[in-house]
Amino acid sequence: MKRVLSGIQPSGQLTLGNYIGAIQNFVKLQETHECFFMVVDLHAITVPQEPAALREQTEAVAALFIAAGIDPAKASVFAQSHVSAHAELGWLFTTLAYMGELERMTQFKDKSTGKDSVGAGLFVYPTLMAADILLYNADLVPVGDDQKQHLELTRDLAQRFNQRFGDQFTIPEPYIPKVGARIMSLDDGSKKMSKSNPNPASYIALLDPPDVIRKKISRATTDSGRDVIFNPAEKPEVSNLMSIYAHCADMTLEEIQARYEGQGYGAFKKELAEHVVAKLEPLQRRYADIRGSGEIHAILKQGAERVSEVANATLRSAKEKMGFLLPR
Ligand code: TYM
Repeated sequence: MKRVLSGIQPSGQLTLGNYIGAIQNFVKLQETHECFFMVVDLHAITVPQEPAALREQTEAVAALFIAAGIDPAKASVFAQSHVSAHAELGWLFTTLAYMGELERMTQFKDKSTGKDSVGAGLFVYPTLMAADILLYNADLVPVGDDQKQHLELTRDLAQRFNQRFGDQFTIPEPYIPKVGARIMSLDDGSKKMSKSNPNPASYIALLDPPDVIRKKISRATTDSGRDVIFNPAEKPEVSNLMSIYAHCADMTLEEIQARYEGQGYGAFKKELAEHVVAKLEPLQRRYADIRGSGEIHAILKQGAERVSEVANATLRSAKEKMGFLLPR
């Protein structure tokens, strides 16, 4: 069975972008693949985190995985920091990566531009992500468009290691949705919807109450036209809302276009809001149940125990190939 691995950072509220770009595919892939889904808490600390908030968010993201439909009996759900092989293989890859290739990462450029001081962890972040993926010899990595470049670097590092030290790592492929790989901000069609945006009106959080969702969508930026047409270059905001619609209502872009022909944006936005509310309602209900039950700790513990075997075996073999003297 082919392997799938992906991760989400526990920094701030998860958004509809995370859901459409990534989590939705996690749920689908668990039926046909051996899946590893983790909360990447070691990645989250590449920017300052308040300790109590980090702990709370780690638990919250794991609960959202389950609430979204990931079944811990089918997929392993775990916290990255519970499996120390991630940090260790991450270090080994840091010694294989070049400064130049890390400097080219657009996410690093976006997060560091204009900052007085930039943490070294933010810079080497992609080497830890490579370790995450390669520890499990994942074949497929479901992610949104913004992670494509990190995945290319992962492939390069895997190839570099294999050439230098002998065959060890599977070269992974990205698995990116055709529509919705990059859900944009509600107030600016040129910016990615992001949980780190200081303006909460720019994103829909998975746990936003129905009325908040309705308000955010009714105030979402559109354009001065009135046609519901998918054209990301000329109508980025409307096209973005159409992508969200397509996922939440399970309709094609053509069907949506036909439905609102000649009706303007009002009816479109109103129904879009109801589809989003209906899509998130069961997830929010399950989330409350799971948090209330406290079962998330047992799920994470079991997940970490299961995946540690695979991760430790890969780490041991990679270290042996690199020339480390293994304890006997
Ligand atoms: P993160 O936590 O920023 O985002 C988690 C996932 O959500 C996707 N995503 C989006 N997709 C569509 N539209 C958006 N607006 C949007 N915003 C976020 C991301 O592409 C991602 O798939 N480096 C990763 C976490 C990571 C990881 C890994 C992923 C660490 N190790 C190993 C895969 C495999 C990150 O920061 O994602």
